[in-house]
Amino acid sequence: MAITYFDDSKSFKLDTVNTTYMIAIVDEEKFIGHVYYGKRVSDQNLNYLLRTEEPPFVPSKNNRDRSSFYDSFPMEYATHGIGDYRESAMKLRTEQGYSAGKLSYVTHTITNGKEKLQGLPATFGDEEDCMSLSIICEEEFTGIQVILHYSVFEKEDVITRDVQLVNKTGKPVFVEKVFSCCLDFDGKYYDMITLHGSWARERHIQRRAVGLGKQGVASIRGESSHQDHPFLALCSKEATEDFGEVYGLNFVYSGNFLAQAEESQFGMTRVVMGIHPEEFRWLLKDGDLFQAPEVVMTYSCKGIGQMTRNFHNMYRRHLIRSKYKNMERPILINNWEATYFNFDKQKLIDIAKEASKLGIEMLVMDDGWFGNRYDDNRALGDWFVNEEKIEGGLKSLVDEVNALGMKFGIWFEPEMISPESQLYKEHPDWAIQIEGKPITLSRNQYVLDISRQEIRDYIYGLVKNILSSANIAYVKWDMNRQLTNLGSKFMNCEQMGEISHRYVLGVYEMMERLTKDFPDLLLENCSGGGARFDAGMLYYSPQIWCSDNTDAIERLEIQRGTSMVYPLSTMGAHVSDCPNHTTGRVTPFMTRGHVALAGTFGYELDVTKISEEDKACIPEQIALYHKYAKLIQSGDYYRIANVAEERYYDCYEVVAADKSEALITYVQVMNVANSHSRRIRIKGLEQDALYEWEENGLVQTGAAYENAGILIPSLWGDYQSILIHLIRK
Ligand code: GLA
Repeated sequence: MAITYFDDSKSFKLDTVNTTYMIAIVDEEKFIGHVYYGKRVSDQNLNYLLRTEEPPFVPSKNNRDRSSFYDSFPMEYATHGIGDYRESAMKLRTEQGYSAGKLSYVTHTITNGKEKLQGLPATFGDEEDCMSLSIICEEEFTGIQVILHYSVFEKEDVITRDVQLVNKTGKPVFVEKVFSCCLDFDGKYYDMITLHGSWARERHIQRRAVGLGKQGVASIRGESSHQDHPFLALCSKEATEDFGEVYGLNFVYSGNFLAQAEESQFGMTRVVMGIHPEEFRWLLKDGDLFQAPEVVMTYSCKGIGQMTRNFHNMYRRHLIRSKYKNMERPILINNWEATYFNFDKQKLIDIAKEASKLGIEMLVMDDGWFGNRYDDNRALGDWFVNEEKIEGGLKSLVDEVNALGMKFGIWFEPEMISPESQLYKEHPDWAIQIEGKPITLSRNQYVLDISRQEIRDYIYGLVKNILSSANIAYVKWDMNRQLTNLGSKFMNCEQMGEISHRYVLGVYEMMERLTKDFPDLLLENCSGGGARFDAGMLYYSPQIWCSDNTDAIERLEIQRGTSMVYPLSTMGAHVSDCPNHTTGRVTPFMTRGHVALAGTFGYELDVTKISEEDKACIPEQIALYHKYAKLIQSGDYYRIANVAEERYYDCYEVVAADKSEALITYVQVMNVANSHSRRIRIKGLEQDALYEWEENGLVQTGAAYENAGILIPSLWGDYQSILIHLIRK
């Protein structure tokens, strides 16, 4: 049993193959305490960890020091205002304006499988895959029912959590904070790993010591963002890729979030994760239910690498729904970096003709095909084909591309509106705005109030029309600015604080419609590069554009950070032209291909203009993609060396799940004069099996590759790369 309730100790035990999570109900007032999370143990009762037999004791034994109990007890879901001064997980405010919370256990249910989260993306599993626990609690000050949900995915070593608030009180309540997860660790001296960045520098890894007080990562930008990421790992000081304890938490949500760790006065560390309370205030009327999004948690006692592999397995099996998730994706060529806005039908056909000869399988028409979109100052919202550019209309273009044996894909940015657009002329009130005040421009555009059904219906209708008008196989759904000036003419004052979350729910609803109406469509999410590369979006699209930065060397960092949580099969990665358009760097064409292979693979250049030498590499790269796509999509990922630490080189590996082969990518970022070959130790192979290094015939045992390693000769020049393919004999 993955979930057991022990009546004698009033405790719950949640077991995965390698981990155990324990909760207990204590004292007459039925407080819900967090007992343990870590390596699997067989014991049924570890309640001594709650320290109820030492001062300040539980309130029934020492009521005079009740506040001390609140301020030190490891609450499974902490409330505020009665004595726990650490970060609380929930804040409810009554009509009268009071706000304090106290949670007590009422009952629980244990079931097989997992229920859907209404309106939200979430992991899924049937009765074979997982078990679920609902702890039903009551909040004393408001009478609101709080349901703590847990689902246990045994094989993946994953436990998911989410929270529901149900109002059956007959009165409205304002929800000012409702986190999805609160986790008290008995101990300090942890390190925290988070992901941060900027446009074209997404998800760089940061590791720092957790100190006293509150620290973490957050977004109030209306999306998960380039700048921060809804992921936080807590690990032991000595944890490396392969050793040490690591707890990873990832939020399945694409809007504002907070993930925070806090070391408290008694040497405990509280971690919370959920919707950011800033810009959030939800009116929960009588009869309403509020569903907070899901947090995915995994524990590894084998270092950061194992945490990564747990997330990858979990998401490949139980989050991504698209039929393409285990399929080779069509190798695409996108015209963005090739032409920007300067294209017409003939130009696209020229690119497609040349590309099809080289083995490229799909043409994607990026921004600039609609309205009077001749640059990025106008026309968002006017989703009508510009026939001045696309002579004869979309269908004739798509048919011609199809006739070349290629599929066709198209770009949209449905959530936006340009002040200079037909749509804005007709509906200026459709932009998110504070009435009568100027709206902050970003890329000269505003954000549509997707929280409103009427607007969603209109925009989605236009998208659907276009998709139904021709044989379109792929959509790139973009979002190129963050939210500001949160306000809506159509929302009353009591509900104005709901816009950010309702916006995200609106986006999810549109994605759900799109994937239902067009089940064969390959959907790639995008947000100014990788600003909405998150688990929420992966529920709808099996791949997300990782970054607008296509420089092979900078991509090493971006893809490495992204790989912390997300499988390689989800990372949009393309070979682009050089000098690179974002960095000016010149790298060998083959290196660009090797780095893009650790993703969905494609091209983003004008294939009619690149040199013959570069062009000649394309069929070779395409052959590599076909050879390795399955392995890269489904294999176990290992980070071996990181250019940020090693300075001169970077190396990573994918090992087949059955360990029959491995592909190692080695990038020599900088050559070093007068240097020896470099020793690299390979990971994850079957110890006693013999493996042949395909490119040079070396045969060694898995143990030798892992412990003795291999020697990689110094390569001539900077930015050189090689692939090493090991095949079990
Ligand atoms: C964003 C995307 C790019 C491209 C442009 C088009 O920046 O990340 O790939 O689609 O928009 O405007």
